[in-house]
Amino acid sequence: MAMGRTSVALASCAATLILVMLPEHVSGKRFIVGGNMGWTSNVNYTLWAANQTFYLGDWLYFMYDRNQNDILEVNKTNYETCNAEHPVHNYTTGAGRDVVELNVTHDRYFISSKGSCYGGMKMQVHLSKMPPSPRAAPSKSASSALSPLIFPVAVTIAAVWDLLLFHV
Ligand SMILES: *[C@@H]1O[C@H](CO)[C@@H](O)[C@H](O)[C@H]1NC(C)=O
Ligand SMILES: *[C@@H]1O[C@H](CO)[C@@H](O)[C@H](O)[C@H]1NC(C)=O
Ligand SMILES: *[C@@H]1O[C@H](CO)[C@@H](O)[C@H](O)[C@H]1NC(C)=O
Ligand SMILES: *[C@@H]1O[C@H](CO)[C@@H](O)[C@H](O)[C@H]1NC(C)=O
Repeated sequence: MAMGRTSVALASCAATLILVMLPEHVSGKRFIVGGNMGWTSNVNYTLWAANQTFYLGDWLYFMYDRNQNDILEVNKTNYETCNAEHPVHNYTTGAGRDVVELNVTHDRYFISSKGSCYGGMKMQVHLSKMPPSPRAAPSKSASSALSPLIFPVAVTIAAVWDLLLFHV
């Protein structure tokens, strides 16, 4: 009876400890812009973006036909008028696969400069506020500093448990 209680208590203690020490989901979410359509004409990206929740630290993957399209970040005025002349940033690398990190909290505006912008190939990205939990928990450095500890701790717990169960 006493033995049973000890091991149950130990098991829940171990489970709690391991749960507490599991690293947070550190890297941001990756969004393939447009889903399986990618970045192309005839997709309403306003609609697509409205169905996503973007947080600071997430990533946008633009996948497209490099001969047909490109990806530029512009300001709000130039987004509204599809003006590609003074982009904030040109993300086009030439491979048809470009990545944008959502590393600033203000709204971002992306267009294709190849004419399809007028048909809707443009996207405003608005970041949501981080929910208080679980994504806002420990900072990147804190959790990556902790993760090397998990394995030894788990092994120690397993060893103690084994000792109690089989040798006491
Ligand atoms: C966007 O940039 C253009 C220059 O390309 C500038 O005339 C305009 O005022 C800017 N708009 C905003 C909202 O910053
Ligand atoms: C964007 O950069 C690519 C690759 O350097 C270049 O070929 C293209 O002309 C640039 N587009 C604009 C609109 O500046
Ligand atoms: C965000 O990332 C871009 C590169 O994609 C970089 O040029 C810029 O400095 C970064 N901004 C911040 C605030 O980290
Ligand atoms: C995309 O969808 C939004 C929301 O339904 C709509 O307001 C907008 O006019 C559409 N854009 C295009 C280019 O069809």
